[in-house]
Amino acid sequence: MKNIEFPQNFYWGGATAANQCEGAWRQDGKGESCADHYTTGTKEKPRRFTPAFDKNAKYPSHYAIDHYNRYKEDIKLFAEMGFKIYRLSINWTRIFPNGDDECPNQKGLDHYRNVFKTCRKYNIEPLVTMSHYEFPYHLTKKWNGWEDRRTIDCFVKYTTTIMKEYKDLVKYWLTFNEINTPLMGAGITMSLGMMPEQEQWLYGNGNNMSAQTANKIVKGLHNQFLASAKTVKIGRQINPNFKFGCMIASNVVYPYTCKPEDVMEAWKQQQRTNYYCGDVMVRGKYAPFTKDYLKDLGATLEIKPEDSEVLKNGTVDFYSLSYYMSGCATTDKSILEKNKNVFSTAKNPYLKASEWGWQIDPQGLRYYIDETYNRYTIPIFIAENGLGTTDEFINGEIHDPYRIDFLRQHILAVGQAIKDGAVILGYTVWGCIDIVSASTGEMSKRYGLIYVDMDDLGNGTLKRYRKDSFYWYKKLIETNGESL
Ligand code: BG6
Repeated sequence: MKNIEFPQNFYWGGATAANQCEGAWRQDGKGESCADHYTTGTKEKPRRFTPAFDKNAKYPSHYAIDHYNRYKEDIKLFAEMGFKIYRLSINWTRIFPNGDDECPNQKGLDHYRNVFKTCRKYNIEPLVTMSHYEFPYHLTKKWNGWEDRRTIDCFVKYTTTIMKEYKDLVKYWLTFNEINTPLMGAGITMSLGMMPEQEQWLYGNGNNMSAQTANKIVKGLHNQFLASAKTVKIGRQINPNFKFGCMIASNVVYPYTCKPEDVMEAWKQQQRTNYYCGDVMVRGKYAPFTKDYLKDLGATLEIKPEDSEVLKNGTVDFYSLSYYMSGCATTDKSILEKNKNVFSTAKNPYLKASEWGWQIDPQGLRYYIDETYNRYTIPIFIAENGLGTTDEFINGEIHDPYRIDFLRQHILAVGQAIKDGAVILGYTVWGCIDIVSASTGEMSKRYGLIYVDMDDLGNGTLKRYRKDSFYWYKKLIETNGESL
């Protein structure tokens, strides 16, 4: 279509994360994760993290859409759409329930073996995230998660175990999901496994964190970088055909005005929030701006002499990303206050936003891919993209032209980036089946091409229904993008 061609072996598919879809939180020996301690929230009311379970609250990861028990039915539906790839995460606490156990949990290992075999039965390539907002709670209490270097060894033991176990079933691995979100003030507990300082500490402000928090974050990230690099090195010994990717949440930041101060501010934010992590994982060393960034954060980072070698020897093969929205940077605080957007950006007056206030910007995806590909020149994988919105369920039917439109525009942008010269391996629609929202814990923020009959309180039959977008995506895959 429109002069845009996708490569013949392009990986079309969908993506999920264990804590948002599996449920079955006590089944087959699973341990507690940080995600299991987050209640449901809403757009207006943030999720709460409760160290002890509150009898009056709902914890959506405990039940989710029961993918743990229904994966066969779900993967069959993915196959019906023609998926070439399914991105899913392994729940660390199903393999090592406490994170530091002596031996792995056999039932957990068996479960994912069955999942991967089911994928293979339909010629679906699994793309496995080793850590997706899912951290053993025991290690949070013991060492404050990734703040402690000892967590590296626990993670490497876990990743070595799963890589050995699935070496003939899985080829593509992502070490950490959206590793950079803590720099935007999010994911400090979900991603870094650190005990929240406040009950509602899910989203903060990346531009405005205390030096104490910043210190913990840069330390935690450094430990994750080392754990990722060690995993990559060991993985290549286990199976030289393995391919490893980093996974970065694309933070596309435009200048709010063409005032040079705004342009500089946008450039700075974009560099810092994306390439701080990207450079270490792709190039094996910190970016030149790191010194300045740490100074601004009021943070210090201890890099041991042997760390540089580790980072250099564990760089990734491809760069995967999630993309949902863009934002604007300005040095004018009054604009930021009046025009508040997600994270620490201002709203773009030229863009519309989703029901949840995420500004929709397909061009931002092309812009980010082009910028990133030209920086690193390693293949790109679009690991997450989609529209989270409410759907109307009428007599078993869901008509979602808004989702089709969103996906069409964004996939078109991917096609344009290919035309611009970027090498792109694949595209996985986020939440290809309705799952629990990470930021709000709601079910009503639906991304799926498949509808799941469940409400925000966990009520419903859990029956799966094909949305209009299901058939649209099926056709798109069948024609390798021609029907766009
Ligand atoms: C990404 C995460 O940040 O965005 C996913 O990797 C998440 O886990 C997705 O679900 C969409 O965010 P939300 O909050 O709408 O579910």
